[in-house]
Amino acid sequence: MTVQKATNIVWHDHTVSRQEREAYNGHEGCTVWLTGLSGSGKSTLANMLEDALWQKGARAYVLDGDNVRHGLNKDLGFSPEDRTENIRRIGEVAALFSDAGIINITAFISPYKADRDTARACAKEGSFIEVLVDCDLDECERRDPKGLYKKARAGEIPEFTGISAPYEAPDNPELVVNTTGKAPEDNVGEILAYLDANGYLSA
Ligand code: ADX
Repeated sequence: MTVQKATNIVWHDHTVSRQEREAYNGHEGCTVWLTGLSGSGKSTLANMLEDALWQKGARAYVLDGDNVRHGLNKDLGFSPEDRTENIRRIGEVAALFSDAGIINITAFISPYKADRDTARACAKEGSFIEVLVDCDLDECERRDPKGLYKKARAGEIPEFTGISAPYEAPDNPELVVNTTGKAPEDNVGEILAYLDANGYLSA
């Protein structure tokens, strides 16, 4: 639980409303929260989805774990506490992007259920779409796109998710996409179909 340090602060409502921004953009502001193991395909799907939405004229933006850890969250490592703070900040940022009328796609392992629930709690009701990017550990390790599983097995990376740190899969995500045995284009199609069927792509 993060303590509110500042006192004497007052909430200001925006002059331009979220509804006005959404009407202008022609779609809702929402967060597509991808969660899954390293190497499961989160970043690939996030970028392909961003591109597909962009081609449709939607305003979409990817927030990616590796990138955000170069800036906003460069002070955080991979201890449970640091991961919690990582996801807390991203949950807040994602909610701001949604409020700005943007379809934001987050690609963070976000291994703890409680942290994802904190992120969901930041969002306006119904604007947080949790997507499990499902890929079993063996396959992630076989792909090992960054060579990190090999290092983790060799004991060179402590607290590596799936090897020496936990991953808690969601019990009840809005959507599950399986990246083994399916082309990423098909996975993106599944997410787009969900967004469309649930009214996110119109304002
Ligand atoms: S999270 O657990 O806090 O959500 P995040 O998505 O920001 O993680 O960052 C994960 C990325 O950091 C991985 O894709 C990988 O490239 C890199 N990484 C470096 N060390 C670790 C580690 N110990 N566990 C998991 N990922 C790590």
